[in-house]
Amino acid sequence: AEPTGAAEEGGSGDETIAIGFSQVGAESGWRAANTKSIQDTLTAENGFDLSFSDAQQKQENQIQAIRSYIAQGVDVIAFSPVVETGWDPVLQEAKSAGIPVVLTDRAVDSEDDTLYESFIGSDFVLEGEMAGEWAAEQYDGEGFQVVELQGTTGSAPAIDRKEGFATAIEGTDLEIIDSQTGNFTRTEGKQVMEGFLQKYDDIDLVFAHNDDMGLGAIEAIEAAGMVPGEDIKIITIDAVKDGMQALADGKINYIVECNPLLGPDLADIAKKVVAGEEVEKRIVVKDEAFDQEAAIEALPTREY
Ligand code: AHR
Repeated sequence: AEPTGAAEEGGSGDETIAIGFSQVGAESGWRAANTKSIQDTLTAENGFDLSFSDAQQKQENQIQAIRSYIAQGVDVIAFSPVVETGWDPVLQEAKSAGIPVVLTDRAVDSEDDTLYESFIGSDFVLEGEMAGEWAAEQYDGEGFQVVELQGTTGSAPAIDRKEGFATAIEGTDLEIIDSQTGNFTRTEGKQVMEGFLQKYDDIDLVFAHNDDMGLGAIEAIEAAGMVPGEDIKIITIDAVKDGMQALADGKINYIVECNPLLGPDLADIAKKVVAGEEVEKRIVVKDEAFDQEAAIEALPTREY
């Protein structure tokens, strides 16, 4: 792409990088923080010309967006794949057009890892394991019945967090009695939890694949006349502000973080890729975990 005034004024002499980013959607507080991080980082001042599109959680919209970035001839394409499979044809088209692709947040399930340059994101299996290990530590021996609110069907975080949690509670007396998707949204998390509460009268623990579904479950539990965090324990993943507030208030019992601030790493990798430099194929973002005390301490300075 041609240099812009902003890049020249910056004195770097670098050309502006045209980057097309296809976002999953706006399904959660995590996603809002992730979008903000990307838009705040890939700015003209930082040498980028960002085209951003929201796929509304639909793979066909993402494929369409990627095809339009290829047609525009951007310098680099980045995207967060809504589901794991079905990307090879469009990634092949980008490769044939000579446009490098960077994956952020979620992985693709492809045999051919030359179809993308780098994948920046958390280890979702580890997140599920951390949640399951804490549940096992706290509640093993109590015969807990667990319901699981899964993320979007076919998405990397739903598949991996489910696997990690199940592995961590193996050999304990915690039992997953039901597991359904709430599509990572508060509304669907609430609906699915309402269904669980009608079907079972002995739920002890909810494992929600993100804070938003956990917050929806809180509403359903309260509407059913029970106390979330006490009558029914809740473990979630993300650690966005609303989730952390519920943890501080005792309505959620434990949260494993998923860091959404991927903008700076993406900017760095995009610059290197466009300059033809070698980049790491996998950049693992580190996550923490919070109990009530840690949430109270972290909340005042929490960025998102
Ligand atoms: O891919 C990351 C997941 O997607 C987050 O945990 C969830 O909140 C978001 O929708």
